[in-house]
Amino acid sequence: MTRVLSAAEVDEAAALLRAGELVAFPTETVYGLGADARNGRAVAAVFEAKGRPHFNPLICHFPDAEAAFAEVLVDDRALALADRFWPGPLTLVLPRRPDCRVDLLAGAGLDTLAVRVPAHKVALALLRAAAVPVAGPSANRSGQVSPTTAQHVLDGLGGRIAAVLDGGACEVGVESTVLHLASGGAALLRPGGVTAEQIEAVIGPVARPLPVAAAEATRTLRSPGMMLSHYAPSLPVRLGATAVAADEALLAFGPPLPGAGAVWQLSETRDLREAAARLFAGLRWLDAEGQRLGLARIAVMAVPMKGLGEAINDRLGRAAAPR
Ligand code: TXA
Ligand code: MG
Repeated sequence: MTRVLSAAEVDEAAALLRAGELVAFPTETVYGLGADARNGRAVAAVFEAKGRPHFNPLICHFPDAEAAFAEVLVDDRALALADRFWPGPLTLVLPRRPDCRVDLLAGAGLDTLAVRVPAHKVALALLRAAAVPVAGPSANRSGQVSPTTAQHVLDGLGGRIAAVLDGGACEVGVESTVLHLASGGAALLRPGGVTAEQIEAVIGPVARPLPVAAAEATRTLRSPGMMLSHYAPSLPVRLGATAVAADEALLAFGPPLPGAGAVWQLSETRDLREAAARLFAGLRWLDAEGQRLGLARIAVMAVPMKGLGEAINDRLGRAAAPR
């Protein structure tokens, strides 16, 4: 059963979030599917509830710029844009700080993090009360349209999440503008509530997405080799391992194959949510440890293609793709 909480029950919603539960919440753009972004299992549950076939990086929500900028590295452009447009429908993609508390899965393993301060009284009250970064993709099943009322959220996710915080209908109705600021230039990844012209008035020229689609532009920016900020292991990755050599690092799922030079366990009990939560940290650790020990590659045990396994296999397939 999904509880419907009123705006007066913000503290209840915040307590659920802090306990690792999923709580949908209103923003000025669309309803977000909130989870404690520090908690890998809660973030994995977001992908599971949405039925996402791959791990898109999620936006993290904060009550003010100070809280947001505690997790990312900022420059003058970010400060000026936050000053002008926050709270509001602008999301900034910036490099993660070394001490960033947001789980790697929320950022899909990237070195950058998307942060935003929504202009919605109920959202801000929730974020203040929760006092943790809140990951929040739109609160709909993957492939369906974004919800702008609590009832829309229930139609898609009723029974799959702990609660929805009802703040009435969303004013803007389209998602926030996503602006990439991490690599010197500024690039618009997704058009939204704040226009490119408004942004340019503050920081100067902004690269626009190719006419193809904003999604395509995001993919280009994120593709391995195109950008230093994109994480892909430097060791080659071998999928579907049924045996492992001493010069290999092993990403295990269930009882580990014997004989590897280093082992990271995704989930001893073959729990897909735990595996998703440990995937990106595992790839990073095996890559570093493998290089330190002079190992040849990362071998990966098979993960079943069901539920979150689809997203896990999608990411592993990308990590193993020729480059
Ligand atoms: O209005 C909104 O932004 C809503 C409300 C709930 O805040 N949220 C939302 O989140 O639309 P989501 O997860 O559906 O969209 C996230 C977008 C995606 O296009 C994703 O690719 C991009 O932001 N994104 C997130 N993190 C990124 C990163 N590190 N690098 C590049 N793109 C990123
Ligand atoms: Mg969405």
